[in-house]
Amino acid sequence: MSTITVKTAEKRFPTAKNLYGIFFEDINRAGDGGLYPEMLRNRSFEDSIPPVECETEQEDYAIITPAGWRDEFNHGEGLSRWIRENKTEYTPIPAWYSENAEMKLDREDTLNEKRCAALAISFLPQGCIYNTGFTGIPQKAGEKYHFYMFAKAEEPVKVDLLIEKDNEIWCGTEINLCGKGYQRYDYEFTAGKTAGNAKFVIRCQKGGKLKLGFTSLMPVDTYNSHGLRKDLVEKLKNMHPTFLRFPGGCIVEGFTPSTAMRFHNTIGPVWERPSHLLMWHYRTTNGLGYHEYLQLCEDLDMEPLYVFNCGMTCQARNSVLMEGEDLEEMIQDTLDAIEYAVGPAGSRWGKVRALMGHPQPFKMNYVEIGNENWGPDYEERYLKCYSIIKERYPFIKFVANSHVEEKELPVDIVDEHFYNSVEYFAENIHFYDNYDRKGPEIFVGELAVLRGPVGQLYAAMGEAMFLIGMERNQDVVTLASYAPLLDNYHYYAWYPNLIIFDNLQSYCIPTYYAWKLLGGSRGNHVVASKDTTGVLYRPVSGMPSLLGPAGVRYRKAAWDGKTVRAVHEVMGHEAASEEEFIISEPDEEQKAESAKMGVKLDEVLVVLGDNETAVKGTFEIEIFAEEGREIGIGVYSSRIPKEVYMNDETHPPREWNAGIVRPFQWRIKDGRSTFMDYQNSVPLAAEVPVKLIMGTYNKFRYTVTGREMSLYVNDELIQKAEVPQFPAMASVVCDTEDEVIVKIVNIAPEPDDITINLDCEVQSNYLAGILTGEKHDENTIEHPEKVQDIELRLLGASSHFIYHAPAYSVNVLQLKKKKITKG
Ligand code: AHR
Repeated sequence: MSTITVKTAEKRFPTAKNLYGIFFEDINRAGDGGLYPEMLRNRSFEDSIPPVECETEQEDYAIITPAGWRDEFNHGEGLSRWIRENKTEYTPIPAWYSENAEMKLDREDTLNEKRCAALAISFLPQGCIYNTGFTGIPQKAGEKYHFYMFAKAEEPVKVDLLIEKDNEIWCGTEINLCGKGYQRYDYEFTAGKTAGNAKFVIRCQKGGKLKLGFTSLMPVDTYNSHGLRKDLVEKLKNMHPTFLRFPGGCIVEGFTPSTAMRFHNTIGPVWERPSHLLMWHYRTTNGLGYHEYLQLCEDLDMEPLYVFNCGMTCQARNSVLMEGEDLEEMIQDTLDAIEYAVGPAGSRWGKVRALMGHPQPFKMNYVEIGNENWGPDYEERYLKCYSIIKERYPFIKFVANSHVEEKELPVDIVDEHFYNSVEYFAENIHFYDNYDRKGPEIFVGELAVLRGPVGQLYAAMGEAMFLIGMERNQDVVTLASYAPLLDNYHYYAWYPNLIIFDNLQSYCIPTYYAWKLLGGSRGNHVVASKDTTGVLYRPVSGMPSLLGPAGVRYRKAAWDGKTVRAVHEVMGHEAASEEEFIISEPDEEQKAESAKMGVKLDEVLVVLGDNETAVKGTFEIEIFAEEGREIGIGVYSSRIPKEVYMNDETHPPREWNAGIVRPFQWRIKDGRSTFMDYQNSVPLAAEVPVKLIMGTYNKFRYTVTGREMSLYVNDELIQKAEVPQFPAMASVVCDTEDEVIVKIVNIAPEPDDITINLDCEVQSNYLAGILTGEKHDENTIEHPEKVQDIELRLLGASSHFIYHAPAYSVNVLQLKKKKITKG
């Protein structure tokens, strides 16, 4: 039984009009074969070619950069898992197969200087080559598909272009090829039947030779005829997004200088756009390029937010810094990109835009300098980019990746990213309450529950709590987007993603509907409101652990009176010596693993005992104290659910690794005792003085109940703390002249009859948009619409009424204000 008290007369601040946007990155094969509905995979025949700077190893299993970063390559097929799950048969030229024909790459005689391969084919009589697309070539009965190719036939040759399924020809034509050099050939297919997994075949009855420079097969019917897949754009539109952050993400950074995104590579005729390997294990042909993104923004009335490489490759993947001319080149690339968007049709790049069919400028009011970059190298490059671009385009708002204002650098907006658990998001509903109102605006550019019930309704609840927190602070948080956006069902590299598709259909995870609901009703002002509600505790369980510098000496460790030993040696190893145990240095493998997991732990971490589900209990231990040595005891040590994304799936980390064992940490050093939620970097109890007897064993004890945690030294209570908690219900209220919009998230497992008190009269009938279901509900390819929002017309609103919020629900109530008539 919660209460929401609303004072519409007290306007807090105007709503941020661009708060709800989208972030597109080409990950999970979201571009070619997805939003950009090219149906031929490896249409430019370049997939098996590693980036210029890279070597391959283990028969092309991996590429390795000069800076030492490895990634699965598999001869251009990408992740081993994709090959396994999609039952991809080996072919030297990914997606292209031959029967009675020989295929090889020609690296010299290519279509143009931007192409680094052509496909040379020698057909025997009845020979053919075929492309299997992105797990098949999709066909929808009655739909038209446009094929074109640049081909070279020294001698006249006749081929059939066919769509086939299970050796049955569905449609096709015969064409004669001849002429000097590469010639373009076009053909339109009309599909007779529907299937997601046909083949595209080039058959040569009589035999002959042919060279292909570039090929393409795409549906004719695209969103606004602008070349993008209709059902996907419609799903984006239904979210009411106000901006598009593009083109990434890590792909902007690249993992070598040649794989960094550049505007110049993504404009002009698609067959003249260089292709390149993306961070996410496949190559893009850049058909989905800068112009296409700007056009999408215009079509959906979104502000473009262009992220550009600021002269450094991905810092999480052994960064390479660009200097001198290389850096200048990157900055010039961005200047040209901005001119392309907003320059007059007569300007150098405005002219190119006009040639692409858009003489009028597009919008470009936001640019982001780099993606997930930080530190002095970033700051130096940030300032350089900022100064040059600002001088030329003073109206643009600049987004930084880190809090550069703390280094006294100029900035309009700072982009913050959050990937965490449901509880993290719910506990951090007040994250922005105390942000400096005079500081930069905040863009929550990437946010998602990445641990635990990912892609399920409960994940959407945690995220929605955080969104409520952002809405309450939209005088500071002015932009937000979920990440990542799109996922080809057969090629995921990262999960969850908002929208999942295969060749014929698409569906959304529950989070999509929460964003759709919350982003769909914005109001003009955030008004004063107050929640009264219960609390929920973070679910905790697990055993004690020892942390701190190597060489910890302990004895008599017991959990509920029973002796425990180091069962999980996450970092370091336990050795017994007489009556005591000593934890030694982590070995090289453990250190490398910890670095790979992104925690770079340089100390020991061993878990004592094996009961991962223990919620209540008492732990006792004696630890040897020495001057200057830190003592660390972990409380509730267990494996937090792991992230679904893994860098090298073929070499997964150990089950108990430093990345996923992150207990609460009780630390004692130099006479002070602290108790921290290490995962969220927040103190659980105030720091206190503590006295240890040096040069001997001291007694440490803690008791836990699932709610309370008490820490004792030598039988004296030192600190008491509560397990982190979060509100069971949270709301934010906005209004317009005519409406009061009450947004409510009930993250509790029970329904809540919420009393809503308003300072104004409203009509009895109102609209409620609701997303609800069972905690672990999710949508699947078989049941794509199991969880989705519904709209109800309800009666009974007044200045004091009860709204029944279902368990696990996001609710948006649109209450109509009663007009006060005079006299
Ligand atoms: O959204 C997936 C990735 O997460 C993005 O590429 C990157 O910015 C972040 O690390």
